[in-house]
Amino acid sequence: MTRATTAPRATAPRATATTPVRAPGTSERSATSSPTLRPTQPANVLVAFGSTRGGTAGIAQVVAATLREEGFDVDLRDAGQVVSAEGYDAVVLGGAVYTGRWHRDARAFARRHASVLRHRPLWMFSSGPLDTTADDHDLPTVRQAGEIAAALRAVGHRTFGGRLSPNPPGVIAKAVARSHSGDFRNTAQIAAWAREIAAELRGRAEQAR
Ligand SMILES: Cc1cc2nc3c(=O)[nH]c(=O)nc-3n(C[C@H](O)[C@H](O)[C@H](O)COP(=O)(O)O)c2cc1C
Repeated sequence: MTRATTAPRATAPRATATTPVRAPGTSERSATSSPTLRPTQPANVLVAFGSTRGGTAGIAQVVAATLREEGFDVDLRDAGQVVSAEGYDAVVLGGAVYTGRWHRDARAFARRHASVLRHRPLWMFSSGPLDTTADDHDLPTVRQAGEIAAALRAVGHRTFGGRLSPNPPGVIAKAVARSHSGDFRNTAQIAAWAREIAAELRGRAEQAR
């Protein structure tokens, strides 16, 4: 089914919003490297994304806006443009999936900043299926994203529905769009996931107190 392509749609979130990759850590944060948060100030969160046609960037915008509503300082960046992840207390990294591969900018970001990301709470997301399957149940993590999540000990990974316009640039994309086009991003679901991240970050800050 083809849907509007302008903005993520708003429908009800599903109940289980996060696929845990590991149990949340509880260790004390040292000056430079521990994964908990500074207790006395709002956390700085980096939301970075790898996106070719803007759909994943739109999901990252919803995550960033929700975290801001929850009181966090948020930088929203194209993953390819991030010079350093050092100054952030937590990171959310999203990537589009193309032919079973996680977006190259998201992979390069993870590689480039691995030494920092290993010591920060990290959430990852992928976009995404051009149907409603991501609304209905937890989808398997695309292999490359799963390997990165394990290597960096990410807190969680979620797959969200994607977006493809009916007449995208590129021969292959046009061919895909003939049978699969539309906007399957679910704003309420994405925002609910971001609120889970906010709650987890607040819990970590409490523990560090
Ligand atoms: C050529 C092509 C291949 C794709 N392959 C996959 C895929 O393997 N798995 C998937 O879930 N989605 C796939 N998609 C859908 C995209 O992941 C989806 O459109 C995504 O939202 C695009 O993100 P972007 O707009 O940020 O680039 C594909 C789309 C195109 C055009």
